[in-house]
Amino acid sequence: MPTSPKERNLNGTAAVAAVVPAAGRGERLGPGAPKALRELGGVPLLVHAVRALARSRAVGLVVVAAPPDGVADVAALLDGHGLDRQDVRVVAGGATRQESVRLGLAAIPEDTGIVLVHDAARPLVPVEVVDAVVAAVRAGAEAVVPAVPLADTVKRVEPQAPGIPEPVLDTPDRAVLRAVQTPQGFRRSALHEVHEKALAEESAGGLPPVTDDAGLIERFGGRVVVVPGHEEAFKVTRPLDLVLAEAVLARRRASDGF
Ligand code: CTP
Ligand code: MG
Repeated sequence: MPTSPKERNLNGTAAVAAVVPAAGRGERLGPGAPKALRELGGVPLLVHAVRALARSRAVGLVVVAAPPDGVADVAALLDGHGLDRQDVRVVAGGATRQESVRLGLAAIPEDTGIVLVHDAARPLVPVEVVDAVVAAVRAGAEAVVPAVPLADTVKRVEPQAPGIPEPVLDTPDRAVLRAVQTPQGFRRSALHEVHEKALAEESAGGLPPVTDDAGLIERFGGRVVVVPGHEEAFKVTRPLDLVLAEAVLARRRASDGF
């Protein structure tokens, strides 16, 4: 993707904003409130996630993409937890994560050099990961994802109807696989461009939406690099993840009054 001279050097002064997609229902977590509003240590996941970003001195603005019918409630909730409305905005998200991110991006000023996209469902990401992603974009990368090596061996299968054993196709070499996390970091203009292209393709009956933003950069031929993620940046997806998150939070609170 072409780079304008202004963007070539996104040095220490480039403004950084973040989009937090928080419009999902959390179906895999089971019945209850929308996932972003479920509590961890008495505080909604979304509030943890926004605070985790705000802990980075680089991040100046956070745009939350809320469930479309919950914008006012989410704004009130963030206010109630002392998050300054000047630096945190709430917009209506969409039907897919990709659409929620696109709508969030639309609320970020065009003179913002760098954008992070961070799942509301990753409440415990350490600030070191946020800063490392920003640093890698500042150092010249167009798209940066934090990732960790896989613990499990992975097999590619031919999916079958429930109850029918799935034939294995092959076993990719685990050493070259990474599980990717957020925040993912981008030159704002590059991320904006691929989201617009994907929207145009979609209306022309194109490819299905992606589950991470770097995937869109890849789809249109851009270059994505990986930096080390962190085991505590895991996504709260299933009920057991909430149990683990509570344990991590309790340990932090015991050790440093987090
Ligand atoms: N997300 C979003 N808009 C959607 C769907 C998802 O903003 N239409 C957000 C979620 O709120 C979450 C992040 O994208 O913060 C990652 O998605 P995922 O973990 O899949 O969350 P949900 O879609 O809510 O969960 P599930 O797939 O189990 O329903
Ligand atoms: Mg989902």
